[in-house]
Amino acid sequence: MKHSKLYLVFIAILCAFIGIFTACSPSRTDSGNSGSNDNGNVNPPSGGTRIQMTFDGQTIYGTLDDNSVSRDLISRLPLTLDFSDYNGTEKIAYLPEGSAAWDTSDAPTSCVPKEGDITMYSPWGNLAIFYHSFRQSNGLIPLGRLDDGEIDKLAAMSGSFSVTISHVEQPDKPNVPDQPDIPDKPDVPEQPEQPDNPNTPEIPEENNVLVVYFSYSGNTKTIAEMIAEKSGATLVEIIAQIPYTAADTNYNDSSSRSQVERRNDARPEISTTTYSAIDMDEYSVVMIGYPIWNGYEPMIIRTFIEHYNGLAGKTVYTFSTSASSGGSTAFNSIKGRLTSADVKENLHFTRSSLSSAESTVEEKLTEWNLLKQSNETMRMKMSFNGQAIFVTLADNSATADLIARLKVAAITIEFSDFGGSEKIGYPSPALDVSNADGCDPVVGDLTIYTPWGNLAAFYKDTAGYSDSLVLVGKIEDNGIEILAAQSGTFTVTLELVV
Ligand SMILES: Cc1cc2nc3c(=O)[nH]c(=O)nc-3n(C[C@H](O)[C@H](O)[C@H](O)COP(=O)(O)O)c2cc1C
Repeated sequence: MKHSKLYLVFIAILCAFIGIFTACSPSRTDSGNSGSNDNGNVNPPSGGTRIQMTFDGQTIYGTLDDNSVSRDLISRLPLTLDFSDYNGTEKIAYLPEGSAAWDTSDAPTSCVPKEGDITMYSPWGNLAIFYHSFRQSNGLIPLGRLDDGEIDKLAAMSGSFSVTISHVEQPDKPNVPDQPDIPDKPDVPEQPEQPDNPNTPEIPEENNVLVVYFSYSGNTKTIAEMIAEKSGATLVEIIAQIPYTAADTNYNDSSSRSQVERRNDARPEISTTTYSAIDMDEYSVVMIGYPIWNGYEPMIIRTFIEHYNGLAGKTVYTFSTSASSGGSTAFNSIKGRLTSADVKENLHFTRSSLSSAESTVEEKLTEWNLLKQSNETMRMKMSFNGQAIFVTLADNSATADLIARLKVAAITIEFSDFGGSEKIGYPSPALDVSNADGCDPVVGDLTIYTPWGNLAAFYKDTAGYSDSLVLVGKIEDNGIEILAAQSGTFTVTLELVV
């Protein structure tokens, strides 16, 4: 009986102890930051694993709770990661490439993050340290927290910065009067190289530009089309030999194709359609677009880069889109793979900056000297029977299409007379008239008759306004007379005048 009383008292003490411990567990809702300390060992909070983070010559301290992800993090220490801002709320970092997936077998599946909380967002696998409180988030696993006041130092950092996370050595006897050893002032970790602040590159006018992109849900495609349209570049999509499905791109599923490919450092195959659309020798500037997948470029981008020998000798720009992560981790990864190329800069868009993409793209293309001249000042040469005439091109989707094709190669078309008023010929395939108004052609106008898709150069003013006649350009000087004088069928070669 006496024994069972003692036993009950023991159980009561044990429960009280467990209660205290549970109160320190990640599921609690108080901020729970420990007393402030200068060196990580003074006044450490009870329980948990003490860690320190060094960056930019400073060290801050925190405590990790006990769950499978925080244990996993502890097993990876010391760990140096590139952190950057996310959403004006968190500082986030992705694990180095090829790292094993986090062990989420025994961890809470959501939390309400508070200032100073250290977390891991399982859908994307990034660490996230909150400097502002945020709403309850599924997939956000609490790992621990920084000591009081420490978060301010992290929050004050801007851009991308390197942080080394390591254990704090606890003193053997915390109660001895001597102050425990102050941990060595950590070496300032080397700052990662920031993307070069690009000077306006010297790009000779006759350079051809290739815009090549991979896109699963269309955001990167939109930007790619915008860049190609505004730069007059050739646009090619990187198409996967085996297309990605919704299941393949489920970032909540660590066994999805996209995540397995990353872990296995895979090189998913690219379709032959993509390869046959590219003669890389034609281009000296290559712009590569991709979405951010778990912090990095999709592995198919690496397939592309390696297929083209690291784009040796090319000038390379990249552009990327994400829900909200930054683009620097992926850009640095790509840059590291293009050691023989002149890699300039990445243009990154998040969901919130996509809406203003058009002006950003124009600004950047201007800065990079890649904004195409207005089509009105673009000219085309038409050569036939040893003679040449010139056309000042209009600005619409048909001329954009024509210019894009002429940048790749000259076009040859058979022309002949039509109705005693026009010389006509058929480009193949027909030009894109999706965004082009009708016109009232006058003598010397080169047009497209949209129902048939033929080019029509008017040497008599026989037609009135028609929605079906799209202006391609105005034949200069007495060129229309020279064209009108040709008889029968004759071969015309079209070339851009640069
Ligand atoms: C597999 C996968 C992983 C993703 N990982 C991230 C990420 O780490 N950070 C982020 O902000 N967005 C992430 N996203 C969202 C995409 O980057 C974003 O929606 C992008 O604009 C999609 O481009 P797309 O429409 O060209 O495919 C991910 C999307 C997928 C499908």
